[in-house]
Order: sequence, then C-alpha cells, then structure tokens
Amino acid sequence: MSEFEYQSGFGNEFATEAIPGTLPIGRNSPQRVAHGLYAEQLSGTAFTAPRHANRRSWLYRIRPAAVHGAFEPFTQPAFHNDFGNGAITPERLRWDPQPLPKTPTDFVDGLFTMAGNGSAAGQAGVGIHVYAANRSMQNRFFYDADGELLIVPQQGRLRIATELGILDVAPQEIAVIPRGVRFRVELADGAARGYVCENFGALLRLPDLGPIGSNGLANARDFRIPVAAFEDVEGDFELVAKFQGHLWRAPIGHSPLDVVGWHGNYAPYKYDLRRFNTIGSISYDHPDPSIFLVLHSPSDTPGTSNMDFVIFPPRWLVAEDTFRPPWFHRNVASEFMGLVHGEYDAKSGGFVPGGASLHNCMTGHGPDAATFEKASAATTNKPDHIVDTMAFMFETRAVIRPTRQALASPQLQRDYGECWRGLKNNFRATRA
Ligand SMILES: [Fe+2]
Repeated sequence: MSEFEYQSGFGNEFATEAIPGTLPIGRNSPQRVAHGLYAEQLSGTAFTAPRHANRRSWLYRIRPAAVHGAFEPFTQPAFHNDFGNGAITPERLRWDPQPLPKTPTDFVDGLFTMAGNGSAAGQAGVGIHVYAANRSMQNRFFYDADGELLIVPQQGRLRIATELGILDVAPQEIAVIPRGVRFRVELADGAARGYVCENFGALLRLPDLGPIGSNGLANARDFRIPVAAFEDVEGDFELVAKFQGHLWRAPIGHSPLDVVGWHGNYAPYKYDLRRFNTIGSISYDHPDPSIFLVLHSPSDTPGTSNMDFVIFPPRWLVAEDTFRPPWFHRNVASEFMGLVHGEYDAKSGGFVPGGASLHNCMTGHGPDAATFEKASAATTNKPDHIVDTMAFMFETRAVIRPTRQALASPQLQRDYGECWRGLKNNFRATRA
C-alpha cells in the first residue's frame, strides 16, 4: 500500500539516507556533517547496556532536537497514567468499542486510557489505551518519554510520519514507536480506531524460540523499518510530550521530522500480523498461549515478562480427542484482550472488533457456555480452519488496573459475567 520502501530485520544496524552522501563513513559524529546537517545521538538503552541489548541511532538532521520553545502543561484529561492505588475489582470486564468522535479529534486528542500498571518512574509496567480519531494531526508533533508505543490499528489506516521515516500501517499490522521518537499521525481513511500499549519496561524484543528452532513465530525479516524521509518546513507548530505520566507542550518553529539520514538499531518498525508463523499441536491438547507470542518486554525475572504481546491469528486446529478452543483457566498473569478483525474462537458474541476485555490475576474465565457446548459436541477427526479472525492480548505479570473512566464508561458491558452462567452441572457419578 505504500510508495515508501522499507528496510527489513529486527534490531539490526540499519542505515538510510534521503540524500546521497549524508551518512559519514567510518565515524558517527564528525565535526562537520555533510550538507550542513547536525549530528545527534538518540539512545534507547543505557550507554553501557550489553551489546546484544544496546539500542541507539545517529541522526543527521537540519536542526537538533533541542531547538524549540519552553514546555508548559498540556491538557488531554482522558490520556494519562493514573491507574490509582485503591481497591480494584477482580471482576471480569468487557467493553464495547470506543465510539468514533463527532467533533474534530486527532490521534493525541483521541487517546483514552483504559488501564495499566507500574509507572514510567519505576520503568516497569504498561499503560493501555484505545484511540478513536477522525482527523490527522495538524501542526502538531508528539513524543512519549515514558515508554515505547505499540500501536494496534483496528479501523482505518495510519500514516505515521516519524523522525526516522514514514510507516504506513493498516489494521492487522502493528507499529512500534520507540520512546522519545517524535511523530505525527495522519489518517488515510478519515476515521481511525485502535489500541496502544505504552511499555514502561524493557524494550520489546523477539522471544527466544527454544525447541521450536531457528525459525517460526514472528520472523525477523518480516519487520519493516522506514527509510529516511525529511521535511524542511517552518511554521507555527507545537511539540506535545508525555513525560512522567503528564502531557506538556512547547512551541516549535519547524517540523522536527527533519532527519535527512540515520543509522542505528533504535528505530520505529511495523509488522504484518498475518505473516506470523503459527505453531500448534498436531496430536492432542491445546498448548499454552505463549505459543502465540509476537513480541515481549522482559522483566528482571528470567522467563517472566513485563508484557507479552500475543495474537490469535487464523490457523488450523487439528488436535484429536480434545477440546479445541482455549480452555478454562486462571493465571498469575493478567490479560487485556482486543479484537482487530472477525470473531474470537472462545466467544460466540459480545466481543466485537474494537472491543476489549480484562481478566486479571486468578480471575476465572474461558469459553462461554455456547462455545463450550458446541466444542464439546464437535467431532475432532477432521481439522477446523479458523479464518477471518485477529485477536490479541497484552499480558502482564502485574495486575492491570482499570482506570476510573474505563469503569464509568458507557461501553462497559455490565452483564459480561452472564456469558458463563449457562455452563451446567454435567456431573454423573456413575459411568455412562
Ligand atoms: Fe485468558
């Protein structure tokens, strides 16, 4: 869909220049940069992070990022990191989609914080937001100093113009904008809705594959990194920053998307979820959903993520003599789910594209009564082909705290728990 080219890979040392001769050879920060540009390093990890985890890029730009006016508070009350400290319900929660706005609303205006845990200050946890917008960001640029942004469009294509280049992202694709990278979101289809996970913890990375081997799940070559694309524009613009849970704005007299060339491994990227190589059982039983892991933010505890991004894509179900949908479960982890497209195979209705659900630590959940009845009676000597679906989950080790505004939202389904009420007592003490 894009006229822009992309680079491929994950965490590589990428190199791109919009004007030939921009990138220096054999040095990062020459005293005199070609074409009268400034050299600037953007670091996403500590300078001393081990080489395999170290992320930084060198930007060669028209003006340094320091050139802007003074910051003052900016108000968008629905977008925040106030997850509260009080009691939270262990109840199963589900929401209808956020309605599209009726007044002009851009991506920043349209963010609505649903839930979260941890904090930017603690460098652990996530903010979970939805967005609903109907116009492109105009004369405005945004960056998030608190975390990288994993954007999951559900409706409407986004053109995300960043300092490091342009990403065109459609539903069933995702984009990740690193902490600190300035960008503008344009709407290609007039209206847009989706989900955002703001990751305060370690940078998202591809999981190790263990016995799966050297291929599978999300393959590194399918990640797309933009090529350099700059704007040399002056005007009356504003730079909106998210910093320690609050929003700020500063006047800026030029577009900060003025990077003519860059190289490094700290860059935005996108990924088409339909390219996921799904692994599953070919004998019996349903594997743990960790088999559907796309990206994860590790915590300091080995094997335990700050956040896992998991998808439930189209796939074949072939396990015999079993219950094929996801089983009933309670987890130590907490699960925020969304649906990008189609229908989710554990719910027969009520969980619609653009909607969301939250099942927190040790809260019992699983297939609804209708799905249970159908799957229990199904013959399993033939494969099922699940098509036309794309659900996802932000799963965290810490309990996910719904915001006050999410609990007060008219989109909250007050009768969600009813979907399990029809599960009957089928117990028989005698053999049939
Ligand atoms: Fe679950």
